[in-house]
Amino acid sequence: MARCMGRRGAGQMDWSAWLPRLKTTFLHLFVIYASVPFLIRLFPVLLTKCVFLNMFKIPFFVDLSRPELLLNHTVNVYLTTEPEVTIGVWHSVPASRGIEAQGKDHSWYEEALGDDNPVILYLHGNGATRAANHRVNLIKVMSAIGFHVLAVDYRGYGDSSGSPSEGGFTTDILYLYDWVKARSGKSRVFLWGHSLGTGIATNVARKLLEDRGTQVDGLILESPYTNIRDAAANIPVTKIYRQFPGFDYLVLDTLALADLFFQSDENVKVLTSPILILHAEDDPIIPSHLGRKLFEIAISAYQDKNKVRFVAFPDKLGLAHDYISFHPDLPTVVKDFLKNIT
Ligand SMILES: *[C@@H]1O[C@H](CO)[C@@H](O)[C@H](O)[C@H]1NC(C)=O
Repeated sequence: MARCMGRRGAGQMDWSAWLPRLKTTFLHLFVIYASVPFLIRLFPVLLTKCVFLNMFKIPFFVDLSRPELLLNHTVNVYLTTEPEVTIGVWHSVPASRGIEAQGKDHSWYEEALGDDNPVILYLHGNGATRAANHRVNLIKVMSAIGFHVLAVDYRGYGDSSGSPSEGGFTTDILYLYDWVKARSGKSRVFLWGHSLGTGIATNVARKLLEDRGTQVDGLILESPYTNIRDAAANIPVTKIYRQFPGFDYLVLDTLALADLFFQSDENVKVLTSPILILHAEDDPIIPSHLGRKLFEIAISAYQDKNKVRFVAFPDKLGLAHDYISFHPDLPTVVKDFLKNIT
């Protein structure tokens, strides 16, 4: 520091002037740090915003109604899932039908759903929109191996109307599921959840099973958690609060007050659908031990142990929380899963 100053020819740093300002800054930071948990307890809606992060419509400047700028053989559809709620969905047909799809209208795409190719409903994680890079990549990779992919922005996300809630997400996806089933004939329909979306996937699968006796053909859970409380206790942003007195009461217990549960651990205990869990060991957001725990809960509850699989992507591949779809082995992993459940 001193040498650097000397070179620039500046005088001695006057610490006596800086010290009080530094102290004030630290005091301010501390007050902010200490008030956050109390504010959350007082206003659970703040926590809802932190969990959903739907206000960040990233990437900016993408026209979500024109997926053709990012994806081939894809159309945008708007579905009204409930009065006042319209959600945006991209439908990519399998790449094998790419040439045929050129210049075709929406009715061709709807009809294409009945072509016997399997279907993925892609339920993305929190923050950003269906145009986020890693989501677009997942769509491309799955379309390349023969799936229809329907990528949704839930209510409150992207260009979808309404405001986000756990129950509202279930309503949106059930509507989409029915819309697809009405067109897809005997094709298999899978729920692919990523991160926050894994909880939505298990909520929907459970609802279908309990309310209608319908078993979803399979669930793929990428970077999942056991339930939102465990996730919140383990994500890095709460790390600086873990030692904070009353963290459980002020923050974790508030999740339930905000109607946030996403209890995949409870859901898998009643499900019967095949489940494939994917987790990168270097996931810095949701640690892979939560994915493994979910797997263990599922496999001990399932009668047919072959129906539950856990695939860990080794540390240091850099796949982290979002990039499993970039791993060249993913298509093989998914195809093996499909082969195993037929
Ligand atoms: C569509 O496919 C063509 C030919 O494979 C490719 O060159 C182009 O980059 C693709 N477009 C998009 C938006 O991915």
